[in-house]
Amino acid sequence: MSDYFEAMLEDRRRQPRDDMMSELLAAEVDGERLSMDDTISFCTLLLLAGHVTTTNLLGQAIRCFDEHPDALEQVRKQPELMPGAIEEVLRYASPVWRLIRTTTAEVTIEGVTIPADSVVFGWLASANRDERQFPEPERFDITRHTHRHIAFGHGIHFCIGAPLSRLETSIALPMMVEQLPELHVVHDQPLELFEGRVLFGFKRLPITFTALEPAI
Ligand code: HEM
Repeated sequence: MSDYFEAMLEDRRRQPRDDMMSELLAAEVDGERLSMDDTISFCTLLLLAGHVTTTNLLGQAIRCFDEHPDALEQVRKQPELMPGAIEEVLRYASPVWRLIRTTTAEVTIEGVTIPADSVVFGWLASANRDERQFPEPERFDITRHTHRHIAFGHGIHFCIGAPLSRLETSIALPMMVEQLPELHVVHDQPLELFEGRVLFGFKRLPITFTALEPAI
């Protein structure tokens, strides 16, 4: 993928176009430009972060509705509950499970001292099930107000794609719910998660549904 992006970037260096890669190459802060490696890393991050995360969110939404048919019935009757339902999926089945950081200095959190240069995992999925923030956190409840979830991270690295992802999901999910009656996950085999414990998504999520009668 790095080679692929490098070739695309070289192409834009020779002939800038009206696109994001050309703008990244031209970007300058205090006379400093991004290195080729940084630019390639950013393109890779953007492609993956912008694609598989929202796919996971949609998959998790389908799984949550499958496990909670009452919730599915409720959003079918009251589509205005859909935005809250999407936030609840983000909290309950966070598509990005954890963040990875390296400490730049020794730090003490809640009495635990972590030395400098340590790799630390920040478990978003755990924070999103914190009973001090969310009463009965193990309950999937599309009417709870989950605005304080941190499924999109927090602070300076807060997800730049959060509004896009919410928009995509708010279009795709109502369409799926409306156009795929009797929507169920097929449980003939256990669902297999992605490896790596960063993304909480399934390698495949087979479903069944009843075809709608064609409109005449
Ligand atoms: C359900 C969908 C999504 C979830 C759950 C999600 C989650 C996250 C999280 C947790 C972070 C913080 C990473 C960190 O602090 O290390 C992040 C950052 C980021 N996300 Fe998303 N994301 C989603 C969709 C998207 C989309 C659609 C895009 C782009 C089109 C995107 C692009 C990015 C980028 C570029 C960053 C890095 C921001 C930075 O480091 O300043 N994400 N995302």
